[in-house]
Amino acid sequence: MAIPQEIIEEIRNRTDIVEVAHAFHLELKKAGGNDFKACCPFHQERTPSFHINTAKQLYHCFGCHVGGDAIRLVQSLANTDFAGALRWLGNFYHISVPEEEESRDPHWQEKRQHGEWGRRLLEEMAGFFQSLLTSPEGKAAREYLQKERGLDPETIQKYRLGFAPEGRDRACAWALSRGFSRELLLETGIAIQSQRNPQLLLDRWRNRIIFPICDDLSRVAGFSGRLFVQKPDDHTGKYVNSPDSPFFHKNQLLYGFHLAKTAFRQAGRAVICEGQLDVIACHRAGVGEALASQGTAFTVEHARMLAKTKVPQVHLAFDGDSAGLHAMERTLPLLLAQGMGVQVILLPPGEDPDSLFRRGGPQALRQVMAASQPAIPYYFQKLIQQTPPETPEAKSDIVTQMLGLLAAIPDQVTRYEYGHRLAGDLGLPPQIVDDQLKKRIQQEAERQERLQAMESFRAANPGAVSPANLREEPQPAESLAPLFHEHQGLTALAQTMLDLCVNFQPVAEAWMNLELGKAMSGESPVVRALNSLLAGTAEGDWEGAREALFHGELGATPEVSSILTCSAFEGESPNAEGELSPLIQQVMQDCQQRLELLNLTLRQQEISRSLQSATDPENRRSILRESQEVAKAIARKKRRA
Ligand code: UTP
Ligand code: MN
Repeated sequence: MAIPQEIIEEIRNRTDIVEVAHAFHLELKKAGGNDFKACCPFHQERTPSFHINTAKQLYHCFGCHVGGDAIRLVQSLANTDFAGALRWLGNFYHISVPEEEESRDPHWQEKRQHGEWGRRLLEEMAGFFQSLLTSPEGKAAREYLQKERGLDPETIQKYRLGFAPEGRDRACAWALSRGFSRELLLETGIAIQSQRNPQLLLDRWRNRIIFPICDDLSRVAGFSGRLFVQKPDDHTGKYVNSPDSPFFHKNQLLYGFHLAKTAFRQAGRAVICEGQLDVIACHRAGVGEALASQGTAFTVEHARMLAKTKVPQVHLAFDGDSAGLHAMERTLPLLLAQGMGVQVILLPPGEDPDSLFRRGGPQALRQVMAASQPAIPYYFQKLIQQTPPETPEAKSDIVTQMLGLLAAIPDQVTRYEYGHRLAGDLGLPPQIVDDQLKKRIQQEAERQERLQAMESFRAANPGAVSPANLREEPQPAESLAPLFHEHQGLTALAQTMLDLCVNFQPVAEAWMNLELGKAMSGESPVVRALNSLLAGTAEGDWEGAREALFHGELGATPEVSSILTCSAFEGESPNAEGELSPLIQQVMQDCQQRLELLNLTLRQQEISRSLQSATDPENRRSILRESQEVAKAIARKKRRA
């Protein structure tokens, strides 16, 4: 049986030749830019003449002159034919490929069918939401889109905007009536299981405007639903997105990518905006190369997706506010690491592309989007505005931050040129910056090595706690204890709890009904963030609550933002079964213990205050009794800790 063309396409799109080479244990060494070299697996040699060009996704051996693309590489290394190589890659990237006629796996059809059903459900759901938007029921939503957001019917049609109706399970009931299964509704994220009654399916989106999110083959992969009437008792996020699923990988989806990619070549760039409506406004203004990572942080996978299109330049159209700057800080190194040029588009304060379009029309937006400046100098300017390099310490801080970016640049000349300029701007000898840069790159390489070592250790010893020498620094388990003392408990505890809940859904779910008590009732941003995240999780929408944090004011506060950008538990991902690593489990227990302890201590403080004001002997006795109880409980806890 021939392999369907669309599966071949899908495999080609997903394949990265470097990952393939790694999988066959080729010892890759950096060869300038993003490229690699290795000793050729096809002939005997001591010095590497086997080259991989990552931009072109090709390999070539200058010794024995073999070469080709990733599929050919698999063919040669796995000693198989074209179909065999596709099957190998399909397996490697979890894309199902049909077996040969004679050895057809009976489950393959089922699985494939399941996938097809899922896609069909998503497609039909998009149609359902679309038709509701044009129905009488969708009047308010339609008016919002047309009057407040200035969208014309053609645009609404082109982007397949829809309306999710009010009511508990309208979408679910409709899909069930069309023969789709409960499992599929849950798996695609259209339904949420009711907490109280697991038999009951609830619609994820109610009374929201729906933006279908398509993959690079223009298939509906999921949805993002926007509120358009704010109800005072509604604590859900402005946007609620599909959860990750086999159909929706948010790290591999960019809103508008399928439309924008055809415009990259002519425009010579991709433009990254923050939201769906910004993408739509850009496209309407003729800036067809715009797309958005829609709230979720821009990931290395997104950067790879763009690099694969060979677009040479990426322009960032982020807000000029501090949240925008943080987003830029995270995004820049990822793009630079792909060898792409990055520029910044300056939006007027308080504006986004969508608001610019509405205020000034296509002309005004086009004009703003046409002007850009190189991102690295821009970022440097921002840094010295924040911290004028007037003291030695300030200079050192700036150099440290800039090195984080520069170290990501794969091209040596570009990297050192920027390094020299940085030295010049700060009045430092270039040698110092050079040295620091080298050190930084070295550290990064070592970090990567450690990460890889840790990964292979994990793969070989599932469930084991990693050996300390492979651990990332700072070492979470050990650094935890001093952290607690330093900050008198509360701050560090809240930080650790927030860090865990933001990064591990199972932790948030385990804690959503946890009695946080007085310890976590304060007004500090971290505590507020933790509370809102847990409340959202309890409502069945961890994803949305997390997203709201990333985009809301809380997430922009320095306290919370530092946790969002830099987790102490990086690399501690759950195993294939979704089980948390032993370290995380241990830290969780630790946090719970400390929370209880902290609450007891606070209770004791309250007691001693009330004792001071109590005069009635009976009353004093009962307060003292409680005080003793609490003291005992504290002692028990301390012994256990
Ligand atoms: P913004 O809050 O900047 O919204 O979030 P926006 O795009 O300007 O939207 P409008 O103009 O108010 O309608 C930027 C993007 O972040 C994602 C969405 O994709 C949004 O477009 N986001 C935002 C979420 O996923 N969840 C949220 O709660 C908020
Ligand atoms: Mn907006």
